[in-house]
Amino acid sequence: MCGITGYIGKREAVRVVVDQLRRLEYRGYDSAGVAARVDGRIDVVKSEGKIARLAMMVDGAFPEARVALAHTRWATHGRPSTPNAHPHGDCSGQFVIAHNGIIENYLELREQLSERGHRFQSETDTEVLPHLVEERFRGCVETALREALREVRGSYAVVMVSSHAPDALFAARQDSPLVIGLGEGEQFIASDIPAVLPYTRRVIVLEDGDLAVLRENEVRITRLDGSPVQRPILEVTWDAAAAEKGGYAHFMRKEIDDQPAAIRDTMRGRITAEGAVDPRILGMSAERIRALNRIYLVACGTAYHAGLVAKHFWERRLGIPVEADLASEFRYRDPAIDENTLVVLISQSGETADTRAALRAARAGGAATLGIVNVVGSTLSREAEHVFHTQAGPEICVASTKAYVSQLIGVYLLGLALMRQRERITAAEEAAIVADLARLPEQVQAVLANEDAIVRIAERFAGCRDFFFLGRGLDYCVAMEGALKLKEISYIHSEALAAGEMKHGTLALVTQDVCTLCLATQARLQEKMISNVKEVKARDATVISLVRAGDTETPKVSDYVIELPATRDELMPVLAIVPLQLLAYHLARILEREIDQPRNLAKSVTVE
Ligand code: AGP
Repeated sequence: MCGITGYIGKREAVRVVVDQLRRLEYRGYDSAGVAARVDGRIDVVKSEGKIARLAMMVDGAFPEARVALAHTRWATHGRPSTPNAHPHGDCSGQFVIAHNGIIENYLELREQLSERGHRFQSETDTEVLPHLVEERFRGCVETALREALREVRGSYAVVMVSSHAPDALFAARQDSPLVIGLGEGEQFIASDIPAVLPYTRRVIVLEDGDLAVLRENEVRITRLDGSPVQRPILEVTWDAAAAEKGGYAHFMRKEIDDQPAAIRDTMRGRITAEGAVDPRILGMSAERIRALNRIYLVACGTAYHAGLVAKHFWERRLGIPVEADLASEFRYRDPAIDENTLVVLISQSGETADTRAALRAARAGGAATLGIVNVVGSTLSREAEHVFHTQAGPEICVASTKAYVSQLIGVYLLGLALMRQRERITAAEEAAIVADLARLPEQVQAVLANEDAIVRIAERFAGCRDFFFLGRGLDYCVAMEGALKLKEISYIHSEALAAGEMKHGTLALVTQDVCTLCLATQARLQEKMISNVKEVKARDATVISLVRAGDTETPKVSDYVIELPATRDELMPVLAIVPLQLLAYHLARILEREIDQPRNLAKSVTVE
């Protein structure tokens, strides 16, 4: 998500940390800030907008500072603004922190700290941290930070400077990356390797639960309980361009691997101690939710495919009509809307022109509106009445992967909250689904570990000119996303079909030159799907089947099989899309396509 940099040594520290920050600019951000230790105090400068603006503000301002940290923020809690920009300090300004991640229990901590007289300057979750350190401080900064971190739940990479420790920089990590760059008489720290590469290639990657104290000639690492620990020194051999992508050849491949973390982050802070979805994620009163008589999910492209999954998951249990609609169609077709309609707009960027227009149409019709948006502060996230942020972090590749998976998680969580409010699901059923959702990151990881098998399939079919993706029910929704992924980055013709529709026309196109991807992950539709697989097999097409573990029947009628870990039918889309993303990626790689920036396409489609 956001970027952190830090420096201690003989150079002009502010220049170094701002320069380091520029190396993280490609990741996207909405504001930036710097903290430097000057004359025994900590000075903080922050600004909304670009790093260049911050650089002008601090240019030549603190030439004597030898300890500094900096941050680029990608908003999660609180809109993009200068007060919300990092770093954040305590009441006295003696402990100043930059943070990546999410402090899940920040609301209760903030309330308790406020009661004890602490004053907050921002809407962020981060700001509780320096105040906690301030409270715990009894003369040792390291101990105070350690104690403060023990009180927070969630994910963090934090870097801290303190006026009480003139010769040190403090850092800690839990579920958010942080690397130390080792120099001669100087040390660097950053959330990502590219930021330290211009200065050093010797790095230490901190592990979850590590706390580090950096001094000019020393790096000391301990665990949160205070016990010392050694971490290996690595020599980075990547060039700067590869380093931006964390060593991956393309952002897309990196973002596919980011998906387990994106699922965890999207669930973070949304589940109660009882294992239920926090109903506040809907932002709507229980009365209004109970009065709903129709729901539309409106979006474009990949986000529309997430809306289709929502239709299936929500409609079965909610007992009211739920429609998924393309924004470009919805906005012109005068849909039936009134004050008891909920229109859900799904968008990674929050800037898609048709989706924004659909939002306006929904509002004009008096409907309640709810955005499922990745970019905090985007137009949709500001203009929708209620917003659920997906917390997938910036997605750079034009082809959406981790944003889609986090949209699916959003759809499941919001759906469960609606069902509970409308008394269409019991607490026990809900807790069981939430427990299955919590297992998904590990299961996605297991799918990713099977990449070699997918590479072999990609090598075998790189010459194929037509791919059909077939599925029923939720598998059809995933088939649409798989076909879109393939066509947009490999330029191979691919289309998705509801498997039962084949014999109504498209079967005429099936020959031995066609490759069919048959999605057979839905236990309750398995027999029907096997019949459809046989139909295409009988026309000599090659069949690659996606099956759930334990399915011994579909493999018997398939040429190639990709087996997925099993979960309940409703959650299988999260697992089924991963091999299809990998297949699209490897086919495009073999065909030497411009994977991250496919021809004719843009990441954010802000025009109609
Ligand atoms: C998916 O890979 C595409 N990049 C595209 O379909 C995208 O999902 C669509 O343009 C919608 O974008 P949004 O989520 O930013 O609204």
